[in-house]
Amino acid sequence: MFLLRLLLPLCLLLPLDLLLHYLNHRSTIAAVRETSLNLRSQPHHPSVQKPCWIKCPRKPFNIFLVHRGPDTKEKEAALIYDYLRGSGYFPFLDVESLMPGKKIPDGIDEALRESKLGVIIFSPRFGESRHCLDELVRLMEMGKPLLPIFCDIEPSELRVAEYCMGRDTAEKVKEYRDALDEAKQVQGLRFQRSTGNWSKLGRDTVKAVDGIFVELGEECPPRHEGSPGFYPGLGATSFGQG
Ligand SMILES: *[C@@H]1O[C@H](CO)[C@@H](O)[C@H](O)[C@H]1NC(C)=O
Repeated sequence: MFLLRLLLPLCLLLPLDLLLHYLNHRSTIAAVRETSLNLRSQPHHPSVQKPCWIKCPRKPFNIFLVHRGPDTKEKEAALIYDYLRGSGYFPFLDVESLMPGKKIPDGIDEALRESKLGVIIFSPRFGESRHCLDELVRLMEMGKPLLPIFCDIEPSELRVAEYCMGRDTAEKVKEYRDALDEAKQVQGLRFQRSTGNWSKLGRDTVKAVDGIFVELGEECPPRHEGSPGFYPGLGATSFGQG
């Protein structure tokens, strides 16, 4: 009898609890639905932040940086990456460049395809990296415009390293050599590590990239005085806003 008296209220309470739980859950679902409907109906409203728990696709890369990691990873490449990123571009900086002879993985190939142009940071030992040479060849095959930056190296000094000649087929070496010969002809920037002005290197790179984007008829990222990516030396860009 005592047990029954204890169990009866419990049995009554339990469904009520379930019901409340259910109702609560439903209103959460309704709220979520409403939010997503709002998001859909005003996709360009600046104050509406797309919640990342749904799915945030990454922005496509628009610049592919080629550099020999051990030479420039922490210096020129990092600086150029930061200036481009700060100016509103989405550069792809390949951190795998350290591994010589590695085949170009899918992610890199995707970035190569998405990019509008390649920024090639030539350093004295660039020609030793088959990985860099492969990326250069791919960019050329894809017909992407290039911006070479000659860091502590003259265009005439660019050559394929001896060890590549020993290990790769004659065709491959010729492909690399032709790519370097073609890159030598492209108007680029020069930089001397010991005497160069690093901030000028960053700004000149952004300016040159802006120029290539304009030539391609692509929109440059908008930049205004006071915005995070605004470098006084660059001036404001008004393109890309209309
Ligand atoms: C380096 O370049 C920047 C941007 O072009 C310039 O404002 C600055 O004065 C230069 N610094 C030196 C030490 O020349």
